[in-house]
Amino acid sequence: MKSNPIHNYFPAITTDQYFMAKFTLRVNGTTHDVEADPATPLVFVLRNQLGLTGPKLGCGLEQCGACAVLVDGTPELSCVRAVSEFEGQDIVTAEGLSETHAAIQQAFIAEGAAQCGYCIPGIVTATAGLFNQTKKPSEAQIKEALHGHLCRCGSQLRVLKAIDRLIQEGAADAD
Ligand code: FES
Ligand code: FES
Repeated sequence: MKSNPIHNYFPAITTDQYFMAKFTLRVNGTTHDVEADPATPLVFVLRNQLGLTGPKLGCGLEQCGACAVLVDGTPELSCVRAVSEFEGQDIVTAEGLSETHAAIQQAFIAEGAAQCGYCIPGIVTATAGLFNQTKKPSEAQIKEALHGHLCRCGSQLRVLKAIDRLIQEGAADAD
């Protein structure tokens, strides 16, 4: 194999060591047939094959929350877990939340709860998961839901205002 500096960091892999498999994913209410290496993290399939760029790749280490999607109504990180684990489950990305949880997105817009916006799809997903559990979350429940979501822009206070708006207006009940 031709010498390549990248092999100092990653073991040399030849194309015959890859294998592809077919998966059926249900995403935002639509069924998709995809072909991928079974170990591929879900976020890559969502973004690169299905064109759903709502889930962001941040740390890639399950440390920042940017890649969160709803899986059967519960927030899950998609940057490490393999696509093969998600067959048969209902996946909702930030794109799908505009249909199912429009009130949450409206509250974030009303409170200007975003700066660069990179973290926001994950945070909106976490909020949707929270309101799937309860329409009147306690402070402890809100903290727990947002705990793993980092925002380098400092939007956290406005995110909390958006969640408070949802609670006060009972707007999440509309979802
Ligand atoms: S990209 Fe998945 S948690 Fe950071
Ligand atoms: S708005 Fe920029 S990282 Fe949160």
